[in-house]
Amino acid sequence: MSLSQLVYLSVEADSFSKNDLEQLLIGARKFNSTHDISGFLVYLDGMFLQCLEGDKKAINDLYEHIKCDFRHKECQLVFEKAIDERVFADWSMGFTHASKDDLEKYGFKSVSDFVTQNEGKTHPALVFMSSVINSSNRF
Ligand SMILES: Cc1cc2nc3c(=O)[nH]c(=O)nc-3n(C[C@H](O)[C@H](O)[C@H](O)COP(=O)(O)O)c2cc1C
Repeated sequence: MSLSQLVYLSVEADSFSKNDLEQLLIGARKFNSTHDISGFLVYLDGMFLQCLEGDKKAINDLYEHIKCDFRHKECQLVFEKAIDERVFADWSMGFTHASKDDLEKYGFKSVSDFVTQNEGKTHPALVFMSSVINSSNRF
């Protein structure tokens, strides 16, 4: 298996309710756990920041499928890279809310920093995800 990690950003098409998010997560976790896919989803004031980890083909196929989901738009690949180990091994799809204030709190001007900054060992998008995960009630 060629282990890979993919992060993308998107914008919700219509406002997601708590129930909409729960239904999305139930389906995602069921599929991901049977396909050995792990990851984390951050709902960021109407945007999604999602990390998918697993076999390269499996996560690329899933990303292509997710891109077609009418519930969100403007999918933008942040990065994809080969990895030796997973960051979110314990999550078939972890989830937390974050707000745009969290961007500033953790040193980012906007989500475009995730796409433009790519120096150092840990990608800024993953730094942000880890920061909000550690400070929130994820489920
Ligand atoms: C932001 C977002 C993230 C999603 N993440 C996943 C995921 O990790 N795994 C998954 O199977 N489906 C995920 N989905 C749902 C898929 O887009 C799709 O609805 C699901 O695979 C069912 O597809 P089907 O209706 O063609 O069977 C996500 C959808 C959105 C909007």
